[in-house]
Amino acid sequence: MAAQPKLARRITQVQPSATLAVSAKAKAMAAEGIDVVGFGAGEPDFRTPEFIVEAGTKAMTGGDTQYNAKRAGELTKAIVAKLQRENGLAYQPAQVLVSNGAKHSCYNICQVVIDEGDEAIIPAPYWVSYLEMVRLAGGTPVVIETSEETGFKITPAQLEKAITPKTKLFFFNSPSNPTGAMYTPEEVRAIAAVVEKHNLITLSDEIYEHLVYGEAKHLSLASCSKKLLEELVITVNGVSKTFAMTGWRIGYVAGPLPLVKAMAKLQDHATSAPASFSQAGAAEALGNQQASVPAVEAMRKEFDARRKHMVERLNKLKGVTCLAPQGAFYCFPNVSGVFGRTLGGKTIQSAMDFTDVALEAAKVAVVPGEAFGSPKHVRLSYASSMASIDKGLDRLEKLLNG
Ligand SMILES: Cc1ncc(COP(=O)(O)O)c(C=O)c1O
Repeated sequence: MAAQPKLARRITQVQPSATLAVSAKAKAMAAEGIDVVGFGAGEPDFRTPEFIVEAGTKAMTGGDTQYNAKRAGELTKAIVAKLQRENGLAYQPAQVLVSNGAKHSCYNICQVVIDEGDEAIIPAPYWVSYLEMVRLAGGTPVVIETSEETGFKITPAQLEKAITPKTKLFFFNSPSNPTGAMYTPEEVRAIAAVVEKHNLITLSDEIYEHLVYGEAKHLSLASCSKKLLEELVITVNGVSKTFAMTGWRIGYVAGPLPLVKAMAKLQDHATSAPASFSQAGAAEALGNQQASVPAVEAMRKEFDARRKHMVERLNKLKGVTCLAPQGAFYCFPNVSGVFGRTLGGKTIQSAMDFTDVALEAAKVAVVPGEAFGSPKHVRLSYASSMASIDKGLDRLEKLLNG
């Protein structure tokens, strides 16, 4: 047998991505010819709007294929203008760094802020990667628990209590993956007051800001005060979710200059700039509002209709309750009412068991809440057609209500 390579400690401590694992299992079943309904996806099912594809194609055929994208300056300018126009945030171009997706942006932040032994505060349920990024930087995640009672949102008092002399970073994500929860503008201001009082470097992940529904209103954390904008908050955003551009890999940060400079130094040695033609597509997405506003609104409306439908159907399942998400494209139902029941030949004791039974007995792929620090819940994405939402929920209904 071949000798096993000895891996570095930093990677052996990291968990594989549960969302990617569920997608892989569902895909493997589909490849065997099994008709699986997938609710695992973390990406829009829409195609990138044509005007963006054209801009990317034109850049590629026009020779914009070198390290230094010809339109890099244009993309940065479009980001600065977008942050001013939509979020009321005034940044200089040097305060912006474009990376290979917002995931890369978050990773860069952790690497330049967190040292061995430092703590990072993460409200649960959290996006799976935050925790592992903190660990990869040698830090310790400090998780704040929430529940349906507070709409899966932390209170300022909880945040204040979690801060210690070792705290280096606080993760704030509204609208949230996986819960779809959104902090109201008043709640954002109350969190901002704690951030300011404790000089807390904060990563504000606003990647789902355009996918909001009903009365919900997004407010950028950095807009709450001059100090937050200039010294404390790193705003993270990207084009993946808003413009259905997940495969283009364009995310960005804007924040205090010393932090952004440090991230740029790291990125220069790790990945350099993202693909030149992807940058051209992103510049068009952010800069051409005449085309982008109606395209985004059409997708948002479709998500909204699916959201309402999925929540309604989930709440009719025996043992399942689901808060209406206000943003992003996920439902996060509580399935603890199913614990103790035997379904598909297996007694369900956890969200992980629920996920296994849903996949094996009903051929429906969901993501177990354990991955998000929430063992009573599962995540279902409604980034799939209405027909497939109905097909999957028919199957779950048969499994749970039948
Ligand atoms: C909360 C959150 N932040 C960031 C990202 C990363 O997006 P991307 O790297 O595609 O820009 C995701 C994607 O799933 C997400 O859910």
